[in-house]
Amino acid sequence: MPDLRTTYLGLPLAHPVVASASPLSHDLDGIRRLEDGGASAIVLFSLFEEQIERENAAMATLAAAGADSTGEVSSYFPPMEAFAAGPGAYFDLVRRARQAVGVPVIASLNGLTATGWVDYAQLMHQAGASAIELNLFHIPADPLASGRDVEQRYADTVAAVCGAVPIPVAVKLSPFFSATGEMARRFVAAGARGLVLFNRFYQPDFDLDQLEVTPTVELSSSAEIRLPLLWLAILHGRVEASLAATTGVHTAADVAKYLLAGADVTMTTSALLKHGPSHASALVAGLAAWLDSKGFASVAQIKGAMSQQRVADPTAFERANYMKVLQSWPRR
Ligand SMILES: Cc1cc2nc3c(=O)[nH]c(=O)nc-3n(C[C@H](O)[C@H](O)[C@H](O)COP(=O)(O)O)c2cc1C
Repeated sequence: MPDLRTTYLGLPLAHPVVASASPLSHDLDGIRRLEDGGASAIVLFSLFEEQIERENAAMATLAAAGADSTGEVSSYFPPMEAFAAGPGAYFDLVRRARQAVGVPVIASLNGLTATGWVDYAQLMHQAGASAIELNLFHIPADPLASGRDVEQRYADTVAAVCGAVPIPVAVKLSPFFSATGEMARRFVAAGARGLVLFNRFYQPDFDLDQLEVTPTVELSSSAEIRLPLLWLAILHGRVEASLAATTGVHTAADVAKYLLAGADVTMTTSALLKHGPSHASALVAGLAAWLDSKGFASVAQIKGAMSQQRVADPTAFERANYMKVLQSWPRR
């Protein structure tokens, strides 16, 4: 049996399959099911500051519309009462989860205000969270906002939180920066111990009958691993931080690819929503079988083995490379 152990944010984990933030962790039963299903760590669903302050109706709209829509994911959204439960309920859940499960429990925060980010991160720490993931989810909808300003605000937020809590902080970042590598390094310089690639932004759709904007979240597919795969491969060995892959982890092959690119852990939500929490165990078993079949003794052995710094042709990660694709395209 290959050695599947890995380390994420300084936390020793039995293997690299982690449950990412989702409604599956919405209550203690769900959290226990994730551990029983085989996740080596659990990221809780995000605490949104507007849940607490009720300043922003957008989250309520998202949750309410999600509950009513006919979309695939609608039934996965937590009921509105969950949002109404208030911040105390979230911190209480962190506290009880830490007592109930043996795996690390990572709290997730999406703040609105400078004080909100810091205060709620501190409360997560006091509740016993093993680490905090910052869900930096902000659409810079103001066309006058400059990229540099948006980046600075992100970096300031990360620095403020990291300076306020002694536990490790990971940043779940956007894939839409002009210079993803530089932003990754800025987050690490601001104190982030881990980077989670990438935040998968919800993108609104239009309802053509009602002529309304409808919030939708669709489950991912394995095809979506490519963008995080690219950036993990580029960043591996170039940032002093743990790397987590999120998006598109449905099969053991997806896990193996992300590890080869340089991820320390792979995170999954859509596959667990689709197949149930025990799919985590299936991914782990599949990973072990693949390592065995290739003669690899451990996860550590393959981590980053196909990162940009270690592949024979580093340009494979750069340029459009359409030429190579076209050359091998079957001629009709
Ligand atoms: C229904 C649903 C709810 C989610 N809730 C959160 C959340 O509260 N916080 C967060 O950071 N990500 C959240 N995510 C994003 C997931 O954690 C994950 O990053 C994303 O779905 C990509 O991974 P996947 O391809 O395995 O689904 C949610 C995703 C889904 C589908």
